[in-house]
Amino acid sequence: MLRNDQLAEWDRENFFHASTHLAQFARGELQNRVITGGSGCHIEDREGVRLLDAFAGLYCVNVGYGREDIADAIAAQAKELAYYHAYVGHGTEASITLAKMVLDRAPANMSKVYFGLSGSDANETNIKLIWYYNNILGRPEKKKIISRWRGYHGSGLMTGSLTGLELFHKKFDLPLAQVVHTEAPYYYRRDALNQSEAEFVAHCAAELEALIEREGADTIAAFIGEPVLGTGGIVPPPEGYWAAIQAVLKKHDILLVADEVVTGFGRLGSMFGCDHYGIEADLITIAKGLTSAYAPLSGSIVSDKMWKVLERGTDENGPIGHGWTYSAHPIGAAAGVANLNLLDELKLIANNRDTGAYLNQAMAEALGDHVHVGEIRGEGMLCAVEFVKDRSDRRFFDAADKIGPQIAAALAADGVIGRAMPQGDILGFAPPFCLTRAEADEVVNKTQKAVKSVFG
Ligand SMILES: Cc1ncc(COP(=O)(O)O)c(C=O)c1O
Repeated sequence: MLRNDQLAEWDRENFFHASTHLAQFARGELQNRVITGGSGCHIEDREGVRLLDAFAGLYCVNVGYGREDIADAIAAQAKELAYYHAYVGHGTEASITLAKMVLDRAPANMSKVYFGLSGSDANETNIKLIWYYNNILGRPEKKKIISRWRGYHGSGLMTGSLTGLELFHKKFDLPLAQVVHTEAPYYYRRDALNQSEAEFVAHCAAELEALIEREGADTIAAFIGEPVLGTGGIVPPPEGYWAAIQAVLKKHDILLVADEVVTGFGRLGSMFGCDHYGIEADLITIAKGLTSAYAPLSGSIVSDKMWKVLERGTDENGPIGHGWTYSAHPIGAAAGVANLNLLDELKLIANNRDTGAYLNQAMAEALGDHVHVGEIRGEGMLCAVEFVKDRSDRRFFDAADKIGPQIAAALAADGVIGRAMPQGDILGFAPPFCLTRAEADEVVNKTQKAVKSVFG
């Protein structure tokens, strides 16, 4: 085992960390933490500190840490064949098997899956396929993509544009011109406080309709959304939202991309968010839960309707000009097969439904009446606590007060990882599906303590 005393120094000198305050990190104002191991819902750092990871990494280690079945499958694949590409009809037993397993679980209107490496590159693939599709159909003007404020779809040029969070746009010259944003389905943060949930849903649909009218339906290709807003605040949609949105999209012949990077493979207690909310998507983005992050792998699941046009496109134009060296990487695919098998064998989605509901209920009982808790919400194994200055008039704290980060830091100091979501004072939880009720109790009790330590 590597035990290097200079690791902290090397880290600050050489390592460009993702989503990090670079200057604070370089100055040593931000702690560096080196993770060395994990088992079940826990991780351990090199100082020997053990933490209950109630965010499953970045809501991705769905089956929990230390699963030997997946590690063995990866090792066996690496020994047998570490790599071959997927171009010009090539594949491996793992990638072909995983494609079948994904389609067996996907909604019935889905036809094929294209494998990438990350949620960001899968959404990049989706947008290219949408543009190609409309070009083949002879609609070269129909190209803009509608996303929602607070949506999260990645941090590339196009996907960072789709993302509707300020931090991902500011100083990066994003969003790109082809992307337009509409209202987030975030009932708690509605402008008109006297609006009922049904009125708010009608308002979201009307906002979408007005945007389409302003831009011209013949310029809009697709709408992308997460079944439940994730990084934007862990916000389940208000009742009837997806039906209302889909009615507008259908009317204007606009494709629907369901970004299921977080929700795919069980996070909501259903296999897909599409099943959960009756969403009929033309493309589905998958990543995280596909391999439980044991190896990088993502996918774009393509519907029959789009697939037929893609086939026609290649008859007219030659092979599709899209591919990564690591598309359908055999090691990722082997991890995916073992992961989906484990999900079934251990009935982890059923546990997720049961323990997720328990966690949400216990959190509501512990903190639901707190004067600084505006809302506790969740679905499946997702839970969020939103903090406000005063719940009676829903006044929010200034971002500069860093209430969310302070509570997350107090919680981590007590051995539980929750995530201070990037926009708003929202503490998010997305534990592995193997969470026990005792572990859920620990998350809730320690959150209550952390809240007390910050507010007194
Ligand atoms: C819904 C959603 N889409 C896309 C992404 C981007 O995935 P990645 O970070 O693997 O590029 C994420 C990442 O959190 C996500 O939550």
